[in-house]
Amino acid sequence: MRTMVPIAPVATTVAADPAERLARLMRPGALSFPSLPPLSLYVHLPWCIRKCPYCDFNSHALGDADAGPPEQRYVDALVLDLEASLPFVWGRRVHTVFLGGGTPSLFSPASIERLVAAIRARLPLEPGCEITLEANPGTFERERFHGYAAAGVTRLSIGVQSFDDGKLAVLGRVHDAAQARAAVAEAREAFATFNLDLMYALPGQSLDGCERDVDTALSFAPPHLSIYHLTIEPNTYFARFPPAPVDDDLAAAMLDRIVERAESAGLGRYEVSAFARSGHRARHNLNYWQFGDYLGIGAGAHGKLSFPHRVVRQVRLRDPAAYMTGAEAGAAIASETEVARADLPFEFMLNALRLKDGFELATFRERTGLPMSAIEAPLAQAERRGLVRRDLQRVEPTALGFDFLNDLQQLFLPAER
Ligand SMILES: C[S@@+](CC[C@H](N)C(=O)[O-])C[C@H]1O[C@@H](n2cnc3c(N)ncnc32)[C@H](O)[C@@H]1O
Ligand code: SF4
Repeated sequence: MRTMVPIAPVATTVAADPAERLARLMRPGALSFPSLPPLSLYVHLPWCIRKCPYCDFNSHALGDADAGPPEQRYVDALVLDLEASLPFVWGRRVHTVFLGGGTPSLFSPASIERLVAAIRARLPLEPGCEITLEANPGTFERERFHGYAAAGVTRLSIGVQSFDDGKLAVLGRVHDAAQARAAVAEAREAFATFNLDLMYALPGQSLDGCERDVDTALSFAPPHLSIYHLTIEPNTYFARFPPAPVDDDLAAAMLDRIVERAESAGLGRYEVSAFARSGHRARHNLNYWQFGDYLGIGAGAHGKLSFPHRVVRQVRLRDPAAYMTGAEAGAAIASETEVARADLPFEFMLNALRLKDGFELATFRERTGLPMSAIEAPLAQAERRGLVRRDLQRVEPTALGFDFLNDLQQLFLPAER
């Protein structure tokens, strides 16, 4: 998922004593939540075989790819981090779990089984809880995906990016198209539901080339497809050595073609970049987009947690070695930041307006603790400009609003402080 949420500048220091921290988080404040939102768990596994030139995620190339990541120590650190986090989510059921990266499929099925079992032993997972694992075709070997399913993973998300060998090489991927096809074929056998990630607007890509990629993906009848426009992120290799950009009109034509092909194959577009067959929407991502809560553990993981009178964002230590040492000492959190009341409307809209169905007014009130009057002026402006439609129950982006999502979201930015 490429939803970036800025951190509000009201930092609080992470007090060493968890009881003192909890007391500070529970004290009266500017907001009041009668009930807390659904809670998800995100677990970050930060290593990759090598770093892709476009990637700005917290992913670190393995020094020695043959040796693999330090699975035992890292899983132990995750369990310690989770245990230290339990008082902050006490009594709350967990709705979904996402093991993301990095490349989680570098970890053996046995390590993933130990991790899932440790999570189950410490957190009450809802019955039928979705447990997703991100996999890379370059780490694929026969039976590995069956091993993850046996470990308790219910859904696989495979980073394919393209089925064209030339484009995979430009993207610096560690796998070729044949490996991608083999990985998808095994995912289909091992999982009742899975996702494929593709990217489009790739350097030198034609409209036909994009259509071939999408059609190849659809030929595997994936229950879910995520398709992202390649973006050049700061501090990446591509930011320093940019590939030839794809013209905006061509990229827009690609997106139209993608939507047309996916929808005629029965995958409805329900979010800017996500398409799903009925019953296969990504429940974990939906919780982000509906401004739900998530505990984030692992190196560099972000979390958002609500308390009766405030919303807090947490970030874990980013460097994997520092994170493991920190978790072992009961200090894995790098920052804990209270979201300012004035920032909540924009943060909510950054997520909710990505959904084709928009949001219910009641959800806005429940998740931000704010009255609808807090967004009446920008909402009325968005409606006048034809960017949203609304009734007494809900607000949804129009086709125009979806096309100009950034402009629409920015209407909800707080006035200058
Ligand atoms: C968290 S990444 C990790 C997936 C996995 N490590 C992999 O690459 O196979 C999730 C997805 O974000 C997308 N992504 C990453 N960087 C991107 C970029 N700069 N522009 C567009 N999409 C990007 C890719 O489709 C990727 O599969
Ligand atoms: S494999 Fe995925 S997480 Fe790793 S560097 Fe490439 S895009 Fe980033």
